[in-house]
Amino acid sequence: MSIVFEQETKTFWLDGKGMTYTFFINPFGYAEHLYFGKTIPHESLMHTRAYGGLSKGIHPNPAIEGQRIWSYNYMKSELSFYGTGDYREPAVLVENAAGDRLSDLLYVGHEILSAKPSISGMPSMDGGETLVLHLKDSHTDFGADLYYTVYDDCDVIARRVVYHNGAKTPATLRRAYSFSLSLPGNDYEVTSLWGSWAHERFMQKTHVHHGVVSIDSKNTSSSATLNPFIAVSDMGTTETNGQVWGVNLVYSSSYVLKAQGDSGGHTLLMGGINDFDFYWTLDGGESFETPEVVIAYSAEGFGGMSRAFHDAYRNHLINPRYVKSPRPLLLNNWEGTSFNFDLEKLKAIVDAVEGTGIDTFVLDDGWFGTSRDDSHASLGDWHIVNERKLPGGLKPLVDYVHSKGMKMGLWFEPECLNEDSEVFRAHPDYIIGVPGRIHGIGRDSFMMDLTRKEVRDYIVDTVNKVIRDNKLDYVKWDFNRNVTESFSLGRDPKDQSRFAHLYALGLYDLCERIIEANPQVFFEGCSAGGGRFDPAMLHYFSQIWTSDNSDAEARTMIQYGTSMCYPLSSMSCHVSASPNHQTYRVSTMKTRADIAHLGATGYELDSTVFTDEDREEVRAQIIEYKECDESLVLEGDLYRIENPFEGNFFGFELVAKDKKKATLTMYRRINICNDYAKRIRLQGLDPDLRYYIPELDLTCSGALLMTVGIVVKIRGADFLTLKYHIDAIEE
Ligand code: DGJ
Repeated sequence: MSIVFEQETKTFWLDGKGMTYTFFINPFGYAEHLYFGKTIPHESLMHTRAYGGLSKGIHPNPAIEGQRIWSYNYMKSELSFYGTGDYREPAVLVENAAGDRLSDLLYVGHEILSAKPSISGMPSMDGGETLVLHLKDSHTDFGADLYYTVYDDCDVIARRVVYHNGAKTPATLRRAYSFSLSLPGNDYEVTSLWGSWAHERFMQKTHVHHGVVSIDSKNTSSSATLNPFIAVSDMGTTETNGQVWGVNLVYSSSYVLKAQGDSGGHTLLMGGINDFDFYWTLDGGESFETPEVVIAYSAEGFGGMSRAFHDAYRNHLINPRYVKSPRPLLLNNWEGTSFNFDLEKLKAIVDAVEGTGIDTFVLDDGWFGTSRDDSHASLGDWHIVNERKLPGGLKPLVDYVHSKGMKMGLWFEPECLNEDSEVFRAHPDYIIGVPGRIHGIGRDSFMMDLTRKEVRDYIVDTVNKVIRDNKLDYVKWDFNRNVTESFSLGRDPKDQSRFAHLYALGLYDLCERIIEANPQVFFEGCSAGGGRFDPAMLHYFSQIWTSDNSDAEARTMIQYGTSMCYPLSSMSCHVSASPNHQTYRVSTMKTRADIAHLGATGYELDSTVFTDEDREEVRAQIIEYKECDESLVLEGDLYRIENPFEGNFFGFELVAKDKKKATLTMYRRINICNDYAKRIRLQGLDPDLRYYIPELDLTCSGALLMTVGIVVKIRGADFLTLKYHIDAIEE
């Protein structure tokens, strides 16, 4: 990893583990992109510059000799701006005091920092070496500082921008993206992750074209609808071959990511906070910090891109206290009991898993308020325990769970409240909405206005009190609706378009004051399943409930899509009952466990119905997880072997970093009679090591397993799995 500035050619070279990012300050003084890809020697790239059309191109006045055919509309800008002749999408649009919306951002200096500065109020990656590039408008005192961070242990570059108004008069940001980047050519595909409740992060592909491919959220949440991720790849890129540039925004509110093909033969990528319903006025001397974007580069297809993201997030984003430590192996009562439980039932659920290896009991929704028997009432009343269900409060249950040597977890939904609740009756003004207008109801609830400090203070005080009074070990933080009627009481009308971003800042403040303030407590994220699964949330929540759809068949697709940028250890995956509660599909306990073991695992069912055989099977599954899967999930490399979106099989191979241990989990959807042999070539092994696979009683070299492979024979009905253990041996 290194960042070098070549004074003579005014070229910046940013080298990561196996990649180079380079740009230079062109003769007009603009930061012009040159290359982002595999590591290259520091040689001149001037022959690769594209200039553009002669007739309608606009160039600076006076023109520079030798640069007459250069035009703004063809510039590969490090931060594209508007008004001087670039008609493509700008990354920044600022309304100056005079009312014009022009920018002309010129290089004025730079710094190279060994310690990466954090972003105020927002999570970001740590470590690495950082370049700060200072740009300033040629006419006003508006400026932009571009931050670039590279790492020596993963092929990602982290970027963001701080916009400054150095003038004495206000300037209004009407668009303030985190980055723009220009790739050569238009021949790319764009992969993104779409979804809905119980159907999160399904993969879709389209082509870069002349025009804009745009994915966004207007939900004030990163949302289940479209994840803040796109991957731009060479046409025909596979899991193992082809170049990919993956873009993932470290942000949890409304965002946009775009890919635009231009007639000059470039593809522009850009994005950040969604500029739909956004403007932000900066008084003289004020700045605006954008969220960070992480851009992964891979020359080894989508698999390489995912491993770059996984290493980046495990090494630099997720809480180091938990990221590589064994996770709670929990039993959650939600799918088992829903709201219908009492102390005796919960004790019986706990008793039924004694000796299985389950070490944490999580009490989900329904424990609080006076009438939380369904989703209509009591949400937000964390200060009241439902004594009908839990006489004597939480203490008897917490003591019982602790007396069994287990940890105790509890569910909260801090951002929402019911109209029928003590908190709403006491503080009707705490909710989001325009007074006098009807407030939209989502899952029977309103939303707390996190943009206001007094509302956040109330939540922090009540939630922290429950956590501390009850010595909780684990918290599941849920969020079951989207924001509507974006409006904050008491805020200046002209600042109401700040709402979506202020909500994110309020959410991060809550996370700091509840999660960071209780370091002994493990926090799991959730949003009606995986409805807010983004890198910023992962900074606080080392794992997130991946989906309310816990059916193994559905999970093969959900977990496949999620693994595009998020490590397996970030996906909470539970073994639930069969028939499945969401899909009614019947599958074996082995299938459910094999798929749930490809993440941070647990159980979510009514364990009181277990037979002795069931209990023994759970015990054996947990031994298997602890001995074979856990370390690979936490620290290993993922190789996606079979894509369930494209065929009848799903396959994930997990390989230890030292390549001495691996597992291959294969799943076959439908039993096709007399089907052809399924051949699999393993990946990521050491070609020179010899491996033993007990399931095949086979010893052979890594080279053979990766070039010739094995034949997978799944025998039996539909929805079955086969798992192989691949261990290096000394002969
Ligand atoms: C939605 C979550 O995704 C579920 O796991 C469960 O916690 C319910 N909310 C409880 O209301």
